[in-house]
Amino acid sequence: MAEPGRSCPRHYRYSPAVFARAADIKAQSLYVVGGLYGNPFALEAVLDLARREGATLAFNGDFNWFDADPEGFRALNETVLQHAALRGNVETEIAGEDSGAGCGCGYPEWVGDGEVERSNEILERLRETARGFPDLRARLGGLPMHLVAEVGGLRVGIAHGDAESLAGWQFSQEALRERPERAQALLAGAAVDVFACTHTCLPVMQDFATPRGTAFIVNNGAAGMPNFRDARFGLATRIASVPSMEALYGARLGAIVVEAVPVRYDHEAWLARFDRVWPAGSPASVSYRKRIASGPGYDVEQALRTSSSGALPRAA
Ligand SMILES: [Fe+2]
Repeated sequence: MAEPGRSCPRHYRYSPAVFARAADIKAQSLYVVGGLYGNPFALEAVLDLARREGATLAFNGDFNWFDADPEGFRALNETVLQHAALRGNVETEIAGEDSGAGCGCGYPEWVGDGEVERSNEILERLRETARGFPDLRARLGGLPMHLVAEVGGLRVGIAHGDAESLAGWQFSQEALRERPERAQALLAGAAVDVFACTHTCLPVMQDFATPRGTAFIVNNGAAGMPNFRDARFGLATRIASVPSMEALYGARLGAIVVEAVPVRYDHEAWLARFDRVWPAGSPASVSYRKRIASGPGYDVEQALRTSSSGALPRAA
């Protein structure tokens, strides 16, 4: 059996063809919010963004992670579950008992063993918290793994990982650079114009030629953690008919725009909350505190890879 945290369980898998269906939801403006990671201040910021333009929200998994405190866990899930939501590997694993998948991250070879072990420990602690909320736990376990939306006549596939697995890494910035032909084939099989995902912790927006025409894969990285060097905000994917003044970057695709919008949460409050729940030396502190404080070694220029469609001017 594969090492916990490295494997991708069979029940995580689906065919790209599941996305070739009629849309489940229609929206004028849609925010896809992946990887909130238990940050309630980022949740507040996202709700505020959506409220201001009457946008639809879709939480595509891993909204839980650092919320191992019972009150934080309850409040965050009760709010998220009022919206369209998919389960990520975190929700799937805390909804059930230990299946041997560990955190269910399906970590690839470039993620070190220490990090994988600590993720399994974080998951264990979060599952212990979740046991105190059997109703929420059942609702998390019952969430779907994929969603199809329609925005401005274009089809949007939404999942946590990639087009064939809830914890797949084929749409990570690393795989999109090294194996774009694999992603292109998955995208073509899904018959969508945009595929919105998360899970792999770094954002990327890249265009592909498919039988339907140009299509985008857009990975928002994390809504609840910084995604760029020295940044202190998360990112959400916005898909809409009209551009947002808030967008950090984006590109036009026919009648719609696909954008990365900063999730500007209260950084100090979040850091204080994180330190209280995950003090120095705890697995989450060792793995994530540096990133939460000052971002990963990754830049906006590395994330935006849409050549043919032209980047939108960046908002100031
Ligand atoms: Fe994930």
